[in-house]
Amino acid sequence: MLDGITDVSRSGACAPRRLLDAQGRHIQYLRLSLTDRCNFRCSYCSVSNYEDGDRILSRAEIRRVVAAFAGLGVRRVRLTGGEPTLRREVVEIAADIRATPGIEEVALTTNGHRLRELSVRLRDAGVLALNVSLDTLDAATLVRVSGRGARLHEVLDGIDAAAAAGFGSLKLNTVVMAGVNDGELGDLVRHAWARGATPRFIELMPFGDGVPVPTGEVKCKLAAQGVALVPDMKRGWGPAHYMRGAGGYVGFIGAITENFCESCNRARITADGGFQACLGGSERLNLRDLVRAGASDEALAEGVSAALGRKAPRHHMDEEGARLVTLPMMGIGG
Ligand code: GTP
Ligand code: 5AD
Ligand code: SF4
Repeated sequence: MLDGITDVSRSGACAPRRLLDAQGRHIQYLRLSLTDRCNFRCSYCSVSNYEDGDRILSRAEIRRVVAAFAGLGVRRVRLTGGEPTLRREVVEIAADIRATPGIEEVALTTNGHRLRELSVRLRDAGVLALNVSLDTLDAATLVRVSGRGARLHEVLDGIDAAAAAGFGSLKLNTVVMAGVNDGELGDLVRHAWARGATPRFIELMPFGDGVPVPTGEVKCKLAAQGVALVPDMKRGWGPAHYMRGAGGYVGFIGAITENFCESCNRARITADGGFQACLGGSERLNLRDLVRAGASDEALAEGVSAALGRKAPRHHMDEEGARLVTLPMMGIGG
């Protein structure tokens, strides 16, 4: 019996298998970290100091794992990190995944610093949706938030290159921090809209430092900073909800105050092959060792299924001490 999987093939020979977690949530979206390394040091992100080396999944192992998940009904893969563009084979890996039967969409989340050189190649490899972190339009604030490796002109040039390359979707993610960037939310919206991108405001989760601003307050600040918005029904694959304004949409990810766990459709794999059912969870299944030991697709499915069978109904990051039980953000890519 596969706890987390409904194997409907028993009721119809050609019916696809589906990955269901303990709450019956249908897992179709895989977030796959390509590296633990990052050239930024964001204050809200817990840093890992691992080198990649042999401990991370090779390109061939990624192909194998993604094919196994596609066979279980995963339709969308988002490449994350660390910083995924630091992985030398990022373009080739994106193309491999796009070519995997069953995978309909490849997306990537990046800090943007390599997009000037990589945008066109990523687009040509089949990356459809690109999310770029942009927490501020002020160079000194960016260094304060993300460390000396973070140069605003590189990120902004990268975003412009991505806009010019023409991805199916381009979103700019801002983690809102009280007293740091909450005075420039309107400017961030206008910057995104001017480039055909969708700005999104994320509630800070307790992986590092910083004071969160609840999504409700972010909306009030936007109104005060000249951005009038009306509700909208638009939804994507992720946890964001959207409102509409004069220049386009604005997304909100209220990870803490607007818990969206009930509709969770995703799972994660760390660069070293750890399968993690919930971002706020503290359990990882080591897929790398299974793959390296020659496990069959059926054995991988059983392990994943058992892990999903233990997936909690929701995260508890909003509770006191949560930071102590979660695993590093940098290794899991959000
Ligand atoms: P879209 O598919 O474009 O909507 O992207 P996404 O929101 O799924 O991905 P992205 O990498 O841009 O992440 C945006 C923010 O959402 C980050 O802060 C992530 O940590 C957060 N996020 C994504 N998935 C989850 C989740 O399952 N739970 C929680 N709590 N946060 C998540
Ligand atoms: N809270 C909310 N979002 C975070 N991210 C990284 N750390 C946190 C956190 N503590 C976001 C990044 C990026 C995405 C991968 O996750 O800004 O947009
Ligand atoms: Fe790097 Fe992203 Fe973490 Fe910032 S949030 S340190 S860019 S992995």
